[in-house]
Amino acid sequence: MANMQRCLFRFIEQNWKCSFRCASSAARKRTSLRSAFPVLDLPLQPIQRHVYEANLRNSYACLKKHSELSEKVRKGGGENAVARHTQRNKKLLVRDRLCLLLDDQDFLELSPFAGLGLPYGDIPSAGCLTGIGRINGLWCVFIANDATVKGGTAYPITVKKQLRAQQIAIQNRLPCVYLVDSGGAFLPLQSEIFPDKNQGGRTFYNEAIMSALKIPQVAVVCGSCTAGGAYVPTMAEEAVMVHRIGTIFLGGPPLVKAATGEEVSPEQLGGATLHAEVSGCVDHFASEEKEAYDYTRNIISTLNFELPEEDEEGEEPLHPSEELLGLAPQSYCYSLDVKMVVSRLVDGSRFQEFKARYGDTLVTGFAKVHGHLLGIVASNGELSYQAALKGSHFVQLCDQRDIPLLFLQNTVPTPTPTLTASQAELNSNRLKAHGSMMSAVACAAVPKVTVVIGGCHGAESYMMCGRSFDPNFLFLWPNARVSLMAPGPAGSVLPPDADVEDQKLNRRLKEESSAFFSSGRLWDDGVILPQDTRKVLKVSLDIIKQQQYQKSTKKLQTTLLRM
Ligand code: COA
Repeated sequence: MANMQRCLFRFIEQNWKCSFRCASSAARKRTSLRSAFPVLDLPLQPIQRHVYEANLRNSYACLKKHSELSEKVRKGGGENAVARHTQRNKKLLVRDRLCLLLDDQDFLELSPFAGLGLPYGDIPSAGCLTGIGRINGLWCVFIANDATVKGGTAYPITVKKQLRAQQIAIQNRLPCVYLVDSGGAFLPLQSEIFPDKNQGGRTFYNEAIMSALKIPQVAVVCGSCTAGGAYVPTMAEEAVMVHRIGTIFLGGPPLVKAATGEEVSPEQLGGATLHAEVSGCVDHFASEEKEAYDYTRNIISTLNFELPEEDEEGEEPLHPSEELLGLAPQSYCYSLDVKMVVSRLVDGSRFQEFKARYGDTLVTGFAKVHGHLLGIVASNGELSYQAALKGSHFVQLCDQRDIPLLFLQNTVPTPTPTLTASQAELNSNRLKAHGSMMSAVACAAVPKVTVVIGGCHGAESYMMCGRSFDPNFLFLWPNARVSLMAPGPAGSVLPPDADVEDQKLNRRLKEESSAFFSSGRLWDDGVILPQDTRKVLKVSLDIIKQQQYQKSTKKLQTTLLRM
């Protein structure tokens, strides 16, 4: 027994010494390990020029569509609704509110095209802007209703967009700021908003769960908070309300009149004075909108984060990022060597390739983006047996070393045929390797960012960390194609005499596979321009890293703060 105790003491002593050593070395100034990864100098070759130019023409057409849609979204609910909002209701437009709330306009807007081209019409910005911006230096998720779009009411796509923004906040531990100006549910579509798990109620559930996880929740009431909207500020940890602009009630004055015959003004029923002085639903009374955002900025500075100095900028790549427009494939057969894309994205075009000579239809290796070390997994052809094994190995390596992963996805649109016994054996082996890579990607507990630079098709897109594999962020280039199979090959799986069906299916696939169709339905976090990718990656990686600087994560809360 005494012997066992002695062993135990020795064990504790050794471990204590070890943790002491770790603590004292951590106290020293941290410097990252030096790297001199080989330079990938891959200029465009004359033989590639015709493919490059065809891609370039396609990219310009996509950019034109991108700017048309951006313009449409910026107009919100249209001229009349804007006039009603600003002149009659005396409220600021949602983008002007963000100008007052955020440090600068350098924010990452999420899925700005969500809501466009839906069966129930065009809902600009899905009636609600979401994104991640800095407030006093701290990256925060914002969810801001645009009341020029049908009074800021929630359509099914609005709910989906809000839930995705909250999901990003949960996954990356980002404080949330809600700018609430909403008439509650869009009643004609109530059955698609109300009852299911990932519908209306989930927003409030998430607010409670995030608060308990110490992910701060702050709300500003800068308009109507009717019905469901009323719970957003009441469940927030701290809420600000604007005098004569904000109202919170479950049913408005017309409902009171119908029930009791009494006439009350919105201000009497649920204005800022009532909620700041009587109900206590809000914590700060702001006499005008600007003051509300000043309060909010001050609330954010009480969240107890200790931010480091700005990180290093990183060496620029060797070739200009505009060349990515000619590397963005107009269709799968216009794909050029993906290392040309990598070399135009990473610091100094430096890339430490892993298993360069094995399974070369997948490129894997290490690089930095603005100083952030990354493991890159990039499609360079069909995911063969060897490529998938290499992918699993590399993903597990990054997981082991806690290195975030970047997937550059461009998967094949054609299913592999099985016409002979030897093909059947090959495909079965490949299936096993695919399964192994899917498991490695799903289980890797490191941050993941996916950029679809070409095709997002079939099961290979799961291995390349598609939406269902929960990447922290997933962006599309405007040339991207998203469909189970591309038009053309899909027809081959229909019965031989199904000519008309084939044509219909192909037409439909073509229409439904565009990046803008995908983004309208919120299958991604937004369409980004190829030349902006490096910047978007920097912001995403800065955002992902921020959780390390929160000082108050140790003690977990068990009860709701506001109750
Ligand atoms: N469902 C569907 N449409 C709605 C709506 C709702 N809950 N609330 C407002 N709208 C529509 C209006 O019909 C109007 O449509 P139009 O532009 O085609 O005419 C548009 O949204 C703007 O509403 P309007 O009342 O003209 O604007 P406003 O700025 O004066 O007021 C609200 C906005 C949200 C304060 C007010 O419309 C309101 O109180 N709506 C009812 C809210 C409610 O009871 N919700 C319960 C949901 S469970």
